[in-house]
Amino acid sequence: MSKGLFIVFEGVDGAGSSTQAQMLRDYFTHRGQQSIVSPEPSAGPIGKLLRTFLAGKNDFNSQDLYDQQMAYLFAADRHYHLYNNVDGVYSLTKENIHVISTRYYFSSLAYNGKTEKDYDFVSILNQKFPPPDLVIYLDLPVNIALERMCDRPSKEIYETQEKLTKVRERFTEIFANYSHKILKIDARESKKKIHQTIVNDIEKWN
Ligand code: TMP
Repeated sequence: MSKGLFIVFEGVDGAGSSTQAQMLRDYFTHRGQQSIVSPEPSAGPIGKLLRTFLAGKNDFNSQDLYDQQMAYLFAADRHYHLYNNVDGVYSLTKENIHVISTRYYFSSLAYNGKTEKDYDFVSILNQKFPPPDLVIYLDLPVNIALERMCDRPSKEIYETQEKLTKVRERFTEIFANYSHKILKIDARESKKKIHQTIVNDIEKWN
């Protein structure tokens, strides 16, 4: 029996991952294949806790400790997202359902690895997580990302120019050295063109 694919979208906030993930799910549906969009932070208990922290509600009083504790939580949530036996990535792909995740360990490295020391710490926390079947990196200049996010009703803690500039630099480094399957896309292109690029790539090897 064939196995579902584990496909990950990455990019700075505002790069269009959620829209493209839904378009990809619709594409699989049209082809008669089952798929699910499954974000990180996940819909599980640790993911819910992370969402409240990202909205700015937390009791941490030291920024350094806060960043480390967030990194542990993201990693714990990722473990749940992959391995829980109800709707974990591996349970679903075994049932031949494609899992499309917006964010994975690359986001931990990019967002939570500010200094070299932080980066090493986050790498260790994430070193046992397997690479996905495909990572799609939507690359977007930070000024455009911030313009796109202006219309959002609420802001999350990482959505500042300074933070996202560092995050984008990290993504560039991470993906320049990445040795598994990756598709890098200029996220300034139209939604339709980006979707077509993704579909063309997947049809080549799936
Ligand atoms: P979202 O915008 O895709 O919903 O992600 C929520 C925020 O969480 C986003 O600003 C990126 C951040 N994040 C991390 O800092 N580390 C991680 O490991 C993940 C998955 C997300």
